[in-house]
Amino acid sequence: MIKVNFSPKIDDEKTAEILKEIVKDKMGGWLELPRNFDKSELRSIKEAAEKIHNESEYLVCIGIGGSYLGHRAIIEALRPKSGVKIIYAGNSLSRRELKEALEEVGDADFSVNIISKSGTTLEPAIAFSEFKKKLVEKYGEEEAYSRIYATTDAKHGALSDEAKAAGYARFVIPDNIGGRYSVLTAVGLLPLAVAGVDIDKLIEGATEASVSAVETATKYACMRYELGKKGYDTEVFASFEPSTMYFNEWLKQLFGESEGKGRQGIFPASVIYSTDLHSLGQFMQDGRRNLYETIVDFPTDDLNAKVVTAVRIAHTEGGIPVLCLSVPSFDEKGFGELIYFFELACAISAKLFGVNPFDQPGVEKYKQELKKLMEEN
Ligand code: PA5
Repeated sequence: MIKVNFSPKIDDEKTAEILKEIVKDKMGGWLELPRNFDKSELRSIKEAAEKIHNESEYLVCIGIGGSYLGHRAIIEALRPKSGVKIIYAGNSLSRRELKEALEEVGDADFSVNIISKSGTTLEPAIAFSEFKKKLVEKYGEEEAYSRIYATTDAKHGALSDEAKAAGYARFVIPDNIGGRYSVLTAVGLLPLAVAGVDIDKLIEGATEASVSAVETATKYACMRYELGKKGYDTEVFASFEPSTMYFNEWLKQLFGESEGKGRQGIFPASVIYSTDLHSLGQFMQDGRRNLYETIVDFPTDDLNAKVVTAVRIAHTEGGIPVLCLSVPSFDEKGFGELIYFFELACAISAKLFGVNPFDQPGVEKYKQELKKLMEEN
């Protein structure tokens, strides 16, 4: 169970009302998901993972934002040894990155998992078109298409249409779960299973958290809100495990996209200690006091544990509120718990700030502007 070192003021009536709203929200499907995970869906994910394992050296995971960061966060953190090697593509518009990903696959056997809920996002669409071409050149159309796994909306979007027409294996992103809340759907679970992560344990952790983390997630959300109202407009997520760098990226996306709207929200930033004590440490200790720090404290060795204590003392003395979330284990179960905990805390926190946690009008805006520019040329 995740433990916290703070006790904010909690308006029980208001938080109970918020929890009810989240349960009823049409985008609140992630709340019940781990507990009620569809067994046949889980079986299909494992079968697909097994097939990929048997016929491919690489799985190219194509997606961006919520269709990418969650599974990468867990794979990078746990570094499983037994699985297929994962290559990521379609998470930027860099030609250089795409070329390097294509070169990395080289002549090896590979499969492709294209992940996009809308099925229209430019970054993954470009990467998918290149990797599909490579598949067809190497295997011919029939086998190429049998190596493509499309994770997308059941009915809408170009990708859904293409997948049905071409007969790709399809995994559905439920209507009631949005991008950044979708790690524990096929969006995350297929790449994770292929990479050798124990997805049963991950779901087990999230299921436990769906009961045990409600109180702590509410506390954390209320603490953020309290700090936000006092003018602490930046939250720095601090981890002492370098392999959790992508988990920090997932956190920033989760909170940034869920909360940063209507001129509200707390800007999410991140550090990895002790590395960043030698760069951002000076600012954390003694810079402008508009930030607070949230330590995600994974179980660690004695020396690293001493650094955690030293940082808590030093930064508290430096005038920064330091929140500490103690994670019980650095494994699939621990990450399952953490993901559920943060999703819930984020949704409650956004609601406290009076914004919708589940839309992302700002992201849509950029997509529309880019589309217009491209149509002009
Ligand atoms: O969290 C979100 O909703 C976004 O970050 C999306 O996941 C991201 O924009 C990618 O969208 P899509 O899955 O439709 O390609």
